[in-house]
Amino acid sequence: MKFFVDTADLEAITELNDLGMVDGVTTNPSIIAKSGRDILEVTKEICDIVDGPVSAEVVSLSADEMIAEGRKLVKIADNIAVKVPLTWDGLRACKVLTGEGNMVNVTLCFSANQALLAAKAGATFISPFIGRLDDINLDGLELIEDIRTIYDNYGYETQILAASIRNANHMSECAKIGADVCTAPPNVIKAMANHVLTDKGLDGFMADVKKAGIKIL
Ligand code: E4P
Repeated sequence: MKFFVDTADLEAITELNDLGMVDGVTTNPSIIAKSGRDILEVTKEICDIVDGPVSAEVVSLSADEMIAEGRKLVKIADNIAVKVPLTWDGLRACKVLTGEGNMVNVTLCFSANQALLAAKAGATFISPFIGRLDDINLDGLELIEDIRTIYDNYGYETQILAASIRNANHMSECAKIGADVCTAPPNVIKAMANHVLTDKGLDGFMADVKKAGIKIL
């Protein structure tokens, strides 16, 4: 499973990228607003750090404007994936932009039917939002499972990019289901390393190191 990092925090991206934990980056207008940076500038800096796809989201609602914005965004770097919302206009923009050879990430997906439409429109990535479904007492992981089944039934090549990941459990569950990619904030990726028994075990080992005076260096 590929790891994308869902942030525009350059320091966090660099730290995880140096560890081999970053196969791509996703941003959205809220993430860009939080960064306080110009979208084109910060996106370019992210593309300079990361080799894999960097999703940059359009900020208009009509297909024509999304297409124009997408054409501008892809000029930032070769690894830009244009992110468009899962609306009818977004699907039209997806079809045109993928037809021009660009990567397109169709975002704000909350149903299997929406995912089916995105695949038909040639999306490179579909982004189902797990956490936001869980927030309204629906089952985000079940949606990932449904989309996996549908795409496998028909051999769609659109990659399932599980998004709105809120905890480390979402990551392993998505890996079990067979999501192609998970995008998560840096703190969630780091939290995957935590286990209470690891901490407890290490405390025990360190106590024995001290007691026995064990030294290596
Ligand atoms: C995905 O591409 C989105 O940027 C992101 O995962 C949304 O997450 P949120 O629901 O935590 O805002």
